[in-house]
Amino acid sequence: MSVPVITIDGPSASGKGAVASRVAAALGFHYLESGALYRLVALAGGNAPEKTAAGLQVEFRDGKIIFSGQDVTEKLREEAIGVRASEIARLPSVRSALLERQRGFRLPPGLVADGRDMGTVVFPDAVLKVFLTASAEARAQRRYKQLNDKGKHATLAALSSALEERDKRDAARAVAPLKPAVDAVSLDSSEMTLDEVVDQVLKKYREKYRESMYR
Ligand code: DC
Repeated sequence: MSVPVITIDGPSASGKGAVASRVAAALGFHYLESGALYRLVALAGGNAPEKTAAGLQVEFRDGKIIFSGQDVTEKLREEAIGVRASEIARLPSVRSALLERQRGFRLPPGLVADGRDMGTVVFPDAVLKVFLTASAEARAQRRYKQLNDKGKHATLAALSSALEERDKRDAARAVAPLKPAVDAVSLDSSEMTLDEVVDQVLKKYREKYRESMYR
């Protein structure tokens, strides 16, 4: 049997990363934050992003992202990097340069992958596909709180319009746009705690896994 994959796709600040890493830890699975790869290409800069994407030297170690020997975990989270990542993510050449690298994370005993096209393009045979959403307001509030906790200043209105613009671009692009896979389970986390979302995903995974054993 192939290595099981759980995909968690959704718009920015829907809580994908927190949910995916918790689900991976609960199951003892590997975790792929695909957005970090697009963010790294953006951070590396240069005018041939597909070449950068193909040669990316990165190490994911103990929750830290090490790029060219430096810990870039915090730097990668910056909203400006997210916006640049979303811009270069429109390029089919960049997406195809990252495709096999993402699939390389599929190692026993299993993988949880989050992003925009994990269930539609990268792992179409995933056991469970989740499309995680939250209202625009809840997402802007979460991002606002994250920044505040780090002592960074931003207004709710500015965050809200930046998120909206990025999601529009991610959903409107021609290649691998942000959209639920036809067989995805949609979850709206606006009124749920992180623990509740994680429990729901684990429950659905167990159901799907059992079903797949009898197929
Ligand atoms: O998940 P994130 O916010 O870190 O992703 C940053 C950008 O990267 C996102 O706005 C679009 C792009 N991206 C993508 O196109 N496909 C993915 N699977 C993950 C991210």
